[in-house]
Amino acid sequence: MRVLGIETSCDETGVAIYDDVQGLIAERLYSQISLHKEYGGVVPELASRDHVRKLLPLIDEVLKDANCQPSDIDGIAYTAGPGLMGALMVGASTAQSLSMVWGIPAVPVHHMEGHLLAPLLEDHPPAFPLVALLVSGGHTQLVYVETMGSYRLLGESLDDAAGEAFDKTAKMMGLSYPGGPAIAALAASGDDARFDFPRPMVNRPGLDFSFSGLKTFTLNTFEGLDGSATDQDKADIAACFQRAVVETLAIKCRRALKETQCKRLLIAGGVSANTALRAVLEKEVGKVNGELLYARPALCTDNGAMIAYAGLQRLKAGQTAELDVQVRPRWPLDTLPTLA
Ligand code: KG4
Ligand code: ZN
Repeated sequence: MRVLGIETSCDETGVAIYDDVQGLIAERLYSQISLHKEYGGVVPELASRDHVRKLLPLIDEVLKDANCQPSDIDGIAYTAGPGLMGALMVGASTAQSLSMVWGIPAVPVHHMEGHLLAPLLEDHPPAFPLVALLVSGGHTQLVYVETMGSYRLLGESLDDAAGEAFDKTAKMMGLSYPGGPAIAALAASGDDARFDFPRPMVNRPGLDFSFSGLKTFTLNTFEGLDGSATDQDKADIAACFQRAVVETLAIKCRRALKETQCKRLLIAGGVSANTALRAVLEKEVGKVNGELLYARPALCTDNGAMIAYAGLQRLKAGQTAELDVQVRPRWPLDTLPTLA
């Protein structure tokens, strides 16, 4: 089976073709970063319009790259949510139209399931059950994954997502968008012990997170330098902020592994590309002789490959889209039908 995947939930137009025998055979990504940069964040209306401009040409290119005709494709997977309403509509309506014209099924994919399954695109795919830490710009969730398609939410952020905290903190310090890579780069030359940032909610039981307080702490620390923050000061703040986020995530992951008696920890979503996070979690799973699973950085952030892959699993389970174009800007992961 060969599936065309379409991702348009936010500021990346991603298209890919995944084949269950040959694997990932073509992939293209157009990032809108330069479009949104001057606003310091994603402008939803601009995002939708740009997806309209880029999506069909990208689909053409991917078909050419794969040396495929539409008749070689067995199904079309598209991100149906969560995400920006208008942006999702572009992908959904394009997928549904092509599905009708080409006479093949379309299947809606949950964006976070796409992220969660991205490490399965790698050479040594993880086994189940496992605990997944999903850390993106819109979500921070701990999920118990009994098997592919069976998800139980263990905890989540009550306010900002981890990626959002990176983005907002970076904006506050005048760094470029998206903030995660900018903070990570700056943190590399910073002293992560200079300021005593809090580790939010770690003293409370449970597996929920809260990251909005860290942003305020950063602002106070930054303003405490009386508008005269040097490059070194900024690097130190970035390093302390990153360490606080990473250690907070690590503490909750340790707790989740213990509660579920699980030794496998999978990380996915844009923030899982963060090398400091990977290093700390490697140590954490090492303590229980466990295993840390993740995808290469390009598959951690938004892409069409993860949508094609997740869609293929759902098509194989006989799931397809209704004829009307449906998207779900809010869509709980644990309400998905199972894949069994
Ligand atoms: O998964 P993703 O591409 O899109 C969403 O589904 O939201 O995640 C984007 C988020 C942004 O907040 C970005 O700042 C963050 O991932 N991010 C990172 C890194 N690379 C991307 N955060 C920390 N360190 C990174 N290296
Ligand atoms: Zn994403």
